Amino acid sequence: MKIIVDLKEKSYPILIEKGALDHIDSIIDTQRKLALIVDDGVPEKYVETIRRQCPDNFMVYFPQGESAKCFDQYKRLLEECIRHDMTRKDAIVAVGGGVAGDLSGFVAASYMRGIDFYNIPTTFLSQVDSSVGGKVAIDLDSYKNIVGAFHQPKAVLIDPTVLEDLSVRQLHNGMVESLKMGLIQDEALVSLFEKENLDHTRIIERSIEIKRQVVEKDEKESGLRKILNFGHTIGHAIESAYGLDTYLHGECVAMGMLFFIEDEALKKRVLNIYKRLNLPEIPHYDVDTLMSYIRHDKKSSTDSVTIVKVKHAGSFELEEMTFDQIRNVLERGPYAE
Ligand SMILES: NC(=O)c1ccc[n+]([C@@H]2O[C@H](COP(=O)([O-])OP(=O)(O)OC[C@H]3O[C@@H](n4cnc5c(N)ncnc54)[C@H](O)[C@@H]3O)[C@@H](O)[C@H]2O)c1
Ligand SMILES: [Zn+2]
Repeated sequence: MKIIVDLKEKSYPILIEKGALDHIDSIIDTQRKLALIVDDGVPEKYVETIRRQCPDNFMVYFPQGESAKCFDQYKRLLEECIRHDMTRKDAIVAVGGGVAGDLSGFVAASYMRGIDFYNIPTTFLSQVDSSVGGKVAIDLDSYKNIVGAFHQPKAVLIDPTVLEDLSVRQLHNGMVESLKMGLIQDEALVSLFEKENLDHTRIIERSIEIKRQVVEKDEKESGLRKILNFGHTIGHAIESAYGLDTYLHGECVAMGMLFFIEDEALKKRVLNIYKRLNLPEIPHYDVDTLMSYIRHDKKSSTDSVTIVKVKHAGSFELEEMTFDQIRNVLERGPYAE
């Protein structure tokens, strides 16, 4: 399936296809000079398949994990671009999960004021969410995505075959972002998580379709795109408070969503899906600590935050909440009626 994200002169294609990795030139111009920025946890066979299709390339690996989204790696990658005489005509290809996309995308956004960027996402999370939409960033101290840009890719190539090597924990972690999109926009997508067999390709297609629609309507997150932050305000706080390595991003988003699902039957349904996906329970948290992160969250204006709430699967409500109101929500806990 090919999906076009229509952003006028910044429009780009997304190819979702098993085996797409074997013919990346169907949406990537492989005849130009390409810097392949690769997560060192991506199985070598996939990296090699990509590399041999690019005649003029150089490769830079970065160490896997969220901690690579840092200034040191960012600087090192920029230095590699300079060392290889990258010009504005050349392009970067990210190979890996959300970390590869966010980090290399930010290099592409800033090197020589911005060069082309292709994304080949290899985790479930990046295939359903982070590879589309142009948000790129690195972390600073424990603040996630605090330094970044909007820089749309030239094309995104999604091959679900690469997920065969992904750990079950990573797979399920990524599924949370899909479930999130189902909860706010598409009840049928929620139902896909209740079927006997989880159809990865179908889940990816539906998720990308939703992400496309939202990004087209609001590229720079001035309005509608905020709905994709469902679960993220408290989720990010938990992620920061427990150190970026204890829980995975999606696991924290799953926890964060529970606080704002305002229908008991739906909450039950979602908890059953969480169980099936083996997601971790919410830890005993300290309200003050979480509040200090929420206050620093970049999405906060002065004393309130836009919160996404879900009452019925497939629809959302936005509510401006003060920090005091959020504190109350945290004090009551996620299971309050
Ligand atoms: N830009 C956005 O819109 C956006 C949206 C959501 C999340 N994010 C960001 O995405 C990041 C998380 O992304 P992620 O969950 O993909 O994590 P990740 O990029 O860290 O990848 C997870 C792990 O999977 C390994 N891996 C990658 N591909 C593999 C494969 N095919 N087989 C086996 N192992 C493989 C990696 O080495 C890594 O250890 C976070 O930094 C988050 O902030 C960004
Ligand atoms: Zn997310």
